[in-house]
Amino acid sequence: MKTAVYPGSFDPITNGHLDIIIRAANIFDRLVVAVLNNSSKTPLFTVEERVELIRDSIPKVPGCEIEVTSFDGLLADFAQSIGATTVIKGLRAVSDFEYEFQMALANRKINHRLDTAFLMTSERYMYLSSSLVRDLGRYGGDISDFVPLKIQKRVIDKLRK
Ligand code: COA
Repeated sequence: MKTAVYPGSFDPITNGHLDIIIRAANIFDRLVVAVLNNSSKTPLFTVEERVELIRDSIPKVPGCEIEVTSFDGLLADFAQSIGATTVIKGLRAVSDFEYEFQMALANRKINHRLDTAFLMTSERYMYLSSSLVRDLGRYGGDISDFVPLKIQKRVIDKLRK
């Protein structure tokens, strides 16, 4: 069974993330979507909320078991603990490349069996990020094209609080 891990902050999950999840699920037998419990960031949603929002957003993908969980510490160690040999990352623009290249090399240095596979974002999500969703929603903008339908109300409610 080929297992991949798709890590991120997902604060909150966007349609860009969802697109990557579905495409990765069509390649791997098991996909673990892993929310980083990052003490250096002050997230809008708690880790538990982010995990729940992802669970409620993802459809069933035949042939792939999708799990959603959280982790802290090093991604390479977490990947090993769940039996994942591939990290999935989405690449949106050339500007993502340098950082992702560094991360991929660092992760392979820590865990030499761990490779990173990059999926090119779909062009309609090229400019999308969680902070863009947060800013738009906070100031009354329309986030309906950017956030999975099932969680839009929860995201808007939280942002307007
Ligand atoms: N669609 C939409 N948005 C996307 C996207 C896509 N396909 N891909 C990335 N993004 C956005 C994210 O929403 C995030 O937006 P934000 O900054 O506005 O919140 C931004 O791009 C950065 O995403 P990403 O590069 O995935 O970073 P992240 O903070 O979400 O997650 C980890 C980074 C968790 C993968 C990384 O910090 C990690 O592995 N940490 C553990 C410690 C470790 O092992 N470090 C490496 C070795 S030292």
